[in-house]
Amino acid sequence: MSALAVATGAINLGQGFPDEDGPVELLDAAVAAIRAGANQYPPGRGIPDLLRAVAAHERRWWSTDYDPETEVLVTAGATEAIASAILALCGPGDEVVTFEPYYDSYAATIELSGAWRKVVALRSPDWGFDPDELARAVTPATRLILLNSPHNPTGKVFSRDELQIIARLCVERDLVAVTDEVYEHLVFDGAHVPLCTFPGMRERTLKISSAGKTFSATGWKIGWVVGPESLVAAVRSVKQFLTFAGGTPFQFAVAAALGLDDAHFAGLTANLQAKRDRFCDGLQTLGWTIHRPQATYFAIVDIRQFAYADGWAFCRSLVADHGVAAVPTEVFYDDKEAGKPLVRFAFCKQTAVIDEALRRLARVKPLPPA
Ligand SMILES: Cc1ncc(COP(=O)(O)O)c(C=O)c1O
Repeated sequence: MSALAVATGAINLGQGFPDEDGPVELLDAAVAAIRAGANQYPPGRGIPDLLRAVAAHERRWWSTDYDPETEVLVTAGATEAIASAILALCGPGDEVVTFEPYYDSYAATIELSGAWRKVVALRSPDWGFDPDELARAVTPATRLILLNSPHNPTGKVFSRDELQIIARLCVERDLVAVTDEVYEHLVFDGAHVPLCTFPGMRERTLKISSAGKTFSATGWKIGWVVGPESLVAAVRSVKQFLTFAGGTPFQFAVAAALGLDDAHFAGLTANLQAKRDRFCDGLQTLGWTIHRPQATYFAIVDIRQFAYADGWAFCRSLVADHGVAAVPTEVFYDDKEAGKPLVRFAFCKQTAVIDEALRRLARVKPLPPA
């Protein structure tokens, strides 16, 4: 849909990337690092400044302690951390349990590893899950649970009670948890709690995050994983032969940005929350029913209110007839029927872009109430 948006000049509310730069301190630090000659391979684990900054970030925000020398690894975005973790820990015959809808790299990476994917449904309107369904999805072949909270594409933040259920299951069934927390700082309602902070979870959790979302620098692809030494070493053994290392000047910049004061982090979140409200309020004023997200960049719309049943057809018509690109959520589902009537919009765009998108979407009229 992004390619179609570019080809047709449509407003791209499909792919999740901001159209504004992150903090100037971050940008200046990258320029300074390039000018200072930080342009060759970094150490495979990441530059020491960033390893220390990530460990300090975990302590500051989540009160967890990781040894920067053995329990932190810098990766080429969260995507490489997720892929390396799954490829390191899973093989043919293993099973990976995750929630559906899921971020699309999960399905591809699980398949690459040769493992099977078992999905547990998140059901609208609150995107809750059935704890029995989760327990049933775990079998003797289950190697790990892959959790994404805050969650793309729904914008859900898993509650403390839900996390408790997942943590208990991991401990009881001796499972590893891989947690994708790239939106950990983009939470508007509710509170994000890392799964690794629950009893018995630190020693079995690989926690993944990324500078892309927190600092609006998705193109830099600087991510990281923290966890117990043995699990991080396993991830590193795969990462070493995927990219080995990368992004030296950006690593210096992210190390600096992670140390920015609280007001900076709060400002980034408030800025995005204002965009969420502008976009969701705008659609509601147009008469649309939307799933207002608690977090992330994304809002989901059920297109049955427009007498459409197929997200692909709706998105094609949105681009062609109205000049706005969105993503059919079917791509995030194994159960295609469940995903078919849903469409995801990214609202991490400049105010003028959101307003223009709303002006165009005003021509898409929901059915009158029955
Ligand atoms: C849930 C989730 N995980 C991971 C990523 C990828 O992160 P990165 O760009 O750091 O590889 C994204 C990007 O959209 C995402 O939404």
